[in-house]
Amino acid sequence: MKRLNEIEWEKFEALSLEEKRPYLERVEGDGMPYHTLFAQQFDRPVLERLCALANRIRFINKSKEGALYLKGVLAHKRAMLYFSQPSSRTFLSHLAACQILGITTGSVRDAATSSEFKGESREDSVRTFSSYFDMIIMRSPEQGLAERMAWELSNSSRSIPIINAGSGKDQHPTQALLDIYTLMRSFEEKGGLDGRTVVFCGDLMRGRTVRSLSYLLTDFRNVRQVFVAPQELQVPADVVMILARRGIDFEVTDNLREAVKSADAVYMTRIQDEWDSAKGASARIDTSRFKFGAEELKLLKPDGCLLHPLPRRDEIAVCCDRDPRAMYWRQMRNGMWIRAALIAATFGFEKDIMSCGY
Ligand code: CP
Repeated sequence: MKRLNEIEWEKFEALSLEEKRPYLERVEGDGMPYHTLFAQQFDRPVLERLCALANRIRFINKSKEGALYLKGVLAHKRAMLYFSQPSSRTFLSHLAACQILGITTGSVRDAATSSEFKGESREDSVRTFSSYFDMIIMRSPEQGLAERMAWELSNSSRSIPIINAGSGKDQHPTQALLDIYTLMRSFEEKGGLDGRTVVFCGDLMRGRTVRSLSYLLTDFRNVRQVFVAPQELQVPADVVMILARRGIDFEVTDNLREAVKSADAVYMTRIQDEWDSAKGASARIDTSRFKFGAEELKLLKPDGCLLHPLPRRDEIAVCCDRDPRAMYWRQMRNGMWIRAALIAATFGFEKDIMSCGY
């Protein structure tokens, strides 16, 4: 069995993401993660199990008896939500997911209110949280921090799971889970997600949700990926390399309207100007052709769907919101169910919930 406490950090860090995966599993060979750090931990069987569990939890939660049962499942656990970067959806949906499962929570949402203000390192902060909680759900501007802390905790006397709720410009694995869950539900009664065309548009260079979702889509058969962006914000080389290596059909273009015509799903993203190296750099890029409005909606297939990880600015016009193909509000709520599924599975309660009598 590959255990994270039996490999030195330098050796672990040097592995490819695929090679790291078995070290992060809850049970050897089962595929379900203990630490959730990146999208490469999820293959199709695990995605299907998580989506089935999310469906089961949302069904059970409909009745009072079912909701009370769920509240008892993890009532003996505590989770720390450590968000040192702004968040609405990821924070609140994880919080709501914990509440559904009966987990009590603590939170730090601003490092200025914690001892980091006094100079404590993020590493020491995470070690501190592990003294009081049974899981850490963390968002950080620092790429790789969740991974390093997963290794640190697994090599400490308080090994508790970490869920990466967004790390730098790098990965946002639980967002990718909810995006996949939304796509699978959208096409559930229309022949499934296999063979579809997914169009990504916006800031593909710095959007961590794009990197994570693009990878998960490679778990499906013949899903074509189209990347639409201004040249300065086009999809980064590492994503292209993975697609090429996995033999995925993909296209890089700057023509949104042409791309929408062939799309089954369009995934819009906002310009991530918080990462600008020089103030105002993004504002100098012409993004006017990378917005989805009434004209683009006319071009979208009748059974297509429009997604956005949110928050949005003006990249999807408000006039699209009431169209039945606009999925972003449902997508956001799906995040709560799939995160509840992930948390329950992380603690080993997948089978209990799947087989309970509700
Ligand atoms: N999609 C997403 O990560 O939203 P928040 O930044 O509001 O959490």
